[in-house]
Amino acid sequence: MSLFIKKPLEQILAQAEGEKGLKRTLGAANLVALGIGAIIGAGLFVRTAAAAGQAAGPGVTLSFIVAAIGCAFAGLCYAEFAAMIPIAGSAYAYSYTTMGELVAWIIGWALIMEYALGAATVAIAWSEYLNKLLDGAIPYEWCHSPFESYTTTEGITHSGILNAPALGILFLLTLLLIKGTQESAFVNMIIVFVKVAIVLLFIAIGWKFIQDSNHTPYLIPEGTEAVKDQAGKIIADYSGWNKHGWGGVLGGAAIVFFAFIGFDAVSTAAQEAKNPKKDMPIGILGSLVVCTLLYILFGHVLTGVANWKEFVDPEKGREASVAYVISTYMQGYGWLATGVTVAILAGFSSVILVMLMGQSRIFYTMSHDGLIPKAFGDLHPKFNTPYKASWILFVFVGLFAAFVPGHVAGDLTSFGTLFAFVLVSAGVWILRVKAPHINRPFKTPLYRIVSTLGVLICTAMIIGLDTQTLKVAFAWMGVGLIVYFLYSRKNSKLRNPGEILPKASDFE
Ligand code: ALA
Repeated sequence: MSLFIKKPLEQILAQAEGEKGLKRTLGAANLVALGIGAIIGAGLFVRTAAAAGQAAGPGVTLSFIVAAIGCAFAGLCYAEFAAMIPIAGSAYAYSYTTMGELVAWIIGWALIMEYALGAATVAIAWSEYLNKLLDGAIPYEWCHSPFESYTTTEGITHSGILNAPALGILFLLTLLLIKGTQESAFVNMIIVFVKVAIVLLFIAIGWKFIQDSNHTPYLIPEGTEAVKDQAGKIIADYSGWNKHGWGGVLGGAAIVFFAFIGFDAVSTAAQEAKNPKKDMPIGILGSLVVCTLLYILFGHVLTGVANWKEFVDPEKGREASVAYVISTYMQGYGWLATGVTVAILAGFSSVILVMLMGQSRIFYTMSHDGLIPKAFGDLHPKFNTPYKASWILFVFVGLFAAFVPGHVAGDLTSFGTLFAFVLVSAGVWILRVKAPHINRPFKTPLYRIVSTLGVLICTAMIIGLDTQTLKVAFAWMGVGLIVYFLYSRKNSKLRNPGEILPKASDFE
């Protein structure tokens, strides 16, 4: 049977139709808030400094613009799918009906990078800010991966053993997830309010402390010398094409792209939107526009108050950069550093929760399709949540959070998401040709152009990632193909028509 066997779309739509639908309660403002709630997190508060220090310099503001344009095109394509195929599973589910099982599997496998490694990345960032709040009380060894080490100015070398706080927060949130947390719209609103307030406060207060000299030159000059620690180990190298100048802006875009992940959460709420045709694009593009503006201003202030080179120095602003910048340069605003740190810890927890929840839901859908073992779909007898999937996920995410450096997990997350974006962008065009008559409550405008630009810009960002990241990412995708041919292909329910396909209600 063909590798490109597809889930029949009509059948899924008919099933969805026959089921009790979700209530259409969300207006444009709720959708924008939902997007912002899922978007602002470690990407802004940790990866901005990393992108400035490693690739873009103050030009990280331009990186945000590049990443936002890629997201806007892909976002419009997500909106069309989300309104047309109202079932859970995100890009995985869309591609199963459009590009067939193998592509769906590949996307599902890439989405593990987006959600599971995304959760690990934010957990690692959480650990950084916790340590900052505790004034560095956690020994370096116990809040870093074994692949991280540095030598201090006194010549003492520290090497990580495991990141215990990251593991701890994941454990707590997994417990919460299994008990079944329904983040109410109200709680989400409060978190959104707090996050936006911190960003605005930082921009408004920090603006006075900007030193123009930190913004000159605006892009990292070619020939900038590598930064080394006391032991001579290189901690930042600017020789690669994507590590300086305009190439660095693209490299930076691939890094800060992480800060935009989560707007696709808006697309998953398509079936709950009051007026998807009008509100989906407002929800997706509105949250993107708000976040992009905030991010650009934030990046401008961050790289203006401190010099971008400080963001690679483990003894300066490499970790918990925002708190570092405030406490080092913004005299009299110690309270802000503490407030920001506490708020960031709360904000990160909600992002981790959304990601873990998203991943367990994708596992759940894949297991119903028979592509991964049935255990991933088992529900807890009391709480009715996919608890086995959550525990397996905890082990997997926990291993990454405990033993892998944050930037590695973050870049892999960007890869997985960008990969899914490329396929979703292409999928819109494919389905317009193959199934032109399906009812599309929201249509991507100028779909040929939007789809092509979505593919091109997201592919450019993938190319802008570190070579090392790309190697690991492709190895991960290779493992995925082996699993597919050894297990999933044989167990696929679609290939065993006697078995029942999942119903839309299974996912609600
Ligand atoms: N965009 C989310 C964050 O930055 C994933 O934490």
